[in-house]
Amino acid sequence: MSQPASARLAEVLAHDGPASSTVQMPPLGTRRPRRLRRTPGIRALVREHRVHSSDLVLPVFIREGLTESRPVTSLPGVYQHPVGKVREIIDAASQAELGGVMLFGVPSETDKDALGSAAAAAGGVLNRSIEAARAAAGPDLVVMSDLCLDEFTTHGHCGVLDVHGHVDNDRTLSIYADVAVGQAVAGADFVGTSGMMDGQVGAVRTALDEARHTTVGVMAYAVKYASAFYGPFRDAVGCTLTGDRLGYQMDPANSREASVEAALDVSEGADILMVKPAAHYLDVIHHVRSVCDVPVAAYQVSGEAAMVEAAAAQGWIAREEAIDESLTCIKRAGAQPILTYWALEAAQRLNAYPEKHYGRTTT
Ligand code: PBG
Repeated sequence: MSQPASARLAEVLAHDGPASSTVQMPPLGTRRPRRLRRTPGIRALVREHRVHSSDLVLPVFIREGLTESRPVTSLPGVYQHPVGKVREIIDAASQAELGGVMLFGVPSETDKDALGSAAAAAGGVLNRSIEAARAAAGPDLVVMSDLCLDEFTTHGHCGVLDVHGHVDNDRTLSIYADVAVGQAVAGADFVGTSGMMDGQVGAVRTALDEARHTTVGVMAYAVKYASAFYGPFRDAVGCTLTGDRLGYQMDPANSREASVEAALDVSEGADILMVKPAAHYLDVIHHVRSVCDVPVAAYQVSGEAAMVEAAAAQGWIAREEAIDESLTCIKRAGAQPILTYWALEAAQRLNAYPEKHYGRTTT
């Protein structure tokens, strides 16, 4: 009859030599993977993926009419800023050696209308922010701008509505084209098409080229899901959405469809593809990475950040380790660049600590 498991375990623990005839150890052969985990130096030597500060892009919210920065309650550490703060933010981003910034404009309520007209206005909050950012940033920092209507429409949808209240795809495209040219004139290096309208990349690319902005790139939110994890963002931009976005953003249950979206956007001229959200869609990032050769970006969205912040505030999770791990995992899945609300602090940490310290308090 065999020994009870607890007695066998006690025997194994008491035994520090090679397996005896009474304690049967499985043969280890010559392979001991733990040899590569023994010291920080060895771990760094064989580490497969590293996040660099230049991989990181900071989303920035600029709100019309503010005189000072105002915290977003559902996103600790994130603020709505006045246009006058753009230079300071750009300086901090440059100093942290970030890859770039992604600018979002928040108009005043009175500037919103059914067509989102304030998005294209030359004097609009987003275009003024892009101008200020481009003037402050050197060539090392990429200035990107969100190209969508949801912040600017009274109904909060990413496009204009038809008589039945449905988002009218093709009428929206001509507005996106105008917005894109306005952002290019203001100095954006990349426009981020985030509305999930069919044909948006082609419409924007054509408009940019016709206006001779051939050097302005398109970062296409190609694979953007209708996600519950955007909740805090809608606070951040004061979005007044009624209804949902299920008619244009992707179904979280689908991954093969990501190939279709990605291939279309590449054929329409996308320079960079994006998958969004990131954490719950790592399989999709990996999939898009393997079927396309353009860079694949990922957006670690507001709800992903809020979850970590909330758990950390309760003392339930090691905040900094969780942040660094989440970014590493997004990179491991195949994404670069990575948009994250933690861009500044993660970059500062990465630049301050040699990576041999990765996971320093959890080892
Ligand atoms: C739409 C847009 C959204 C986000 C970025 N661009 C929200 C949405 O589709 O409802 C979400 C970003 C986040 O949650 O951090 N312009």
